[in-house]
Amino acid sequence: MISLKINNIDVKGKEGDMILDVAKRYGIDIPHFCKNDRLERIGACRICVVEAKGQQKLIASCCTPIREGMEINTHSRRVMEARRTNMELLLANHDLNCVTCKKNLSCKLQRYAEEMMIDEITFSGDKRLYEVDHSSISIRRDNNKCILCGQCTRICNDIQTVNAIGIQNRGFHNKIAPPFGMNMHESACVNCGQCVIACPTGALTEKSDIQGVIDALRSDKFLIAQTAPSIRATLGECFGMPPGTPVTGKMVTALREAGFDKVFDTDLAADICIIEEATEFIKRFKENKDLPLITTCCPAWIKFGEQFFFEELHHMSSCRSPQAIMASLIKTYYAEKIGKKPEDIVLVDIMPCTAKKFEIKRPEFTGEADFVLTTVELGKLFKLLNVDFINLEESDFDNPLGESTGAAAIFGHTGGVMEAALRTAADWLTGEDLKEIDYKKIRSMDTLKEAELTIGGKQIKACVVHTLGEARRLLEQIRQGTCPYHFIEIMACYGGCIGGGGQPLPTDKERLIKRTKALIDEDEHKDIRKSHHNKSAIKLYKEYLGDFGGKKAHKLLHTEYYKRDYV
Ligand code: FES
Repeated sequence: MISLKINNIDVKGKEGDMILDVAKRYGIDIPHFCKNDRLERIGACRICVVEAKGQQKLIASCCTPIREGMEINTHSRRVMEARRTNMELLLANHDLNCVTCKKNLSCKLQRYAEEMMIDEITFSGDKRLYEVDHSSISIRRDNNKCILCGQCTRICNDIQTVNAIGIQNRGFHNKIAPPFGMNMHESACVNCGQCVIACPTGALTEKSDIQGVIDALRSDKFLIAQTAPSIRATLGECFGMPPGTPVTGKMVTALREAGFDKVFDTDLAADICIIEEATEFIKRFKENKDLPLITTCCPAWIKFGEQFFFEELHHMSSCRSPQAIMASLIKTYYAEKIGKKPEDIVLVDIMPCTAKKFEIKRPEFTGEADFVLTTVELGKLFKLLNVDFINLEESDFDNPLGESTGAAAIFGHTGGVMEAALRTAADWLTGEDLKEIDYKKIRSMDTLKEAELTIGGKQIKACVVHTLGEARRLLEQIRQGTCPYHFIEIMACYGGCIGGGGQPLPTDKERLIKRTKALIDEDEHKDIRKSHHNKSAIKLYKEYLGDFGGKKAHKLLHTEYYKRDYV
């Protein structure tokens, strides 16, 4: 351990720890913009500067390692003045339209300006004026609010390897944008929203569908909401609840109070997704054909594959995502059941993810889901409609599309889809109701996890990756014929859906672990924990869908993919 003093307090840290991280552990908050735990520290914004005794220059605490005997002052007069100057320079170029900004009250720039008591900006000069980019279905880009911290481009390029945005132009005209003058829609953007999560200001935000939903709620249409598996573990954070607080019952009640006629559970569709995907996997595994099979619940990964790995698309499961399965069932099976025309039903999908906004606009899904609200948007909708979320009673989902198993509950975290699929595949391969197999290996936050299972005398090699850079490495292996796996789960976002681009901030590792635990707890407390034991799903096949993987199931529950040239 290394001993040092921060603000005259004796502290300790490990070799390689940075000053900022050690300070944080001791409750000392140093402002920072460009530091991101998932990225290399580059010390670009200089807002985190501190004073080290014996050193003439101020140092960036985010990327300066601690040394034995150091004496650090994080809030000396010199430090405060330097920080204030940096802040004023950033604000001098900013449009300062905070009241109308979507990050109002959750913006770091705003928070620091308030904490540093900046009520006047002493620098003046030409403001850069940019047109707001509304072209994307999922993401709004406003360079007038950008402070050039670079986190968004580094996430997009280094972690996701999508390269949709980068720093364009030089000097005063520097800006974050797609290359060659393209807008977001024309770019390679896969809509994952990881840039939105990284952005400390309102420069990158989700495209809002709240007004459209409010208009629908005021219409005479029949309103249905479906809620994705991860939302119940994250929505509470929008109302100040600790991360990982399960709020399923309150969420259902709140949606009814908001005016929805029915509230269905996407988890049921997750169970159906597993039934179809396991059927597909077993067929391919027995025939040893088109392996590995890759799961396709994540729309950002699907667009990534369509853009960069078209030759490998036959490895993707043809099964729709749970969102798209539920949308299909609501506008066919359920509409018929209640005697309504599909166009008289407005379906609002509550999703963790900005890419779901893109997914529902795919031509294959026309006429199904009408709107996607992210978790954050749903929180805002409830506040707007004065729904007293915290004090609500709990209630259950509506039926017949509201029953789900523990296997569906874990869809929301990395490894969950694979675990759910293997539970069913293992039973079907052996013809037995197997006791729980240990899936701990694929529950961790590692970005690549492997599991080798021996089931019924046969070996299944499974792999789980999250983040698209990790997926790219695996897909390159498939392209070269060196991939050793039979079955792969890919999720674009770090942590899976609990870390999606529409989830409450921050989405740091600590918080993601708590959200994951909430989903695992839900699974462990369910009586039924395998998708193929879901009674409502089985009844649905008997009444309406026919055989697992059969003709009608294929028509309603599967889809296809195609080559994309970045649009
Ligand atoms: Fe340290 Fe930006 S946070 S330089």
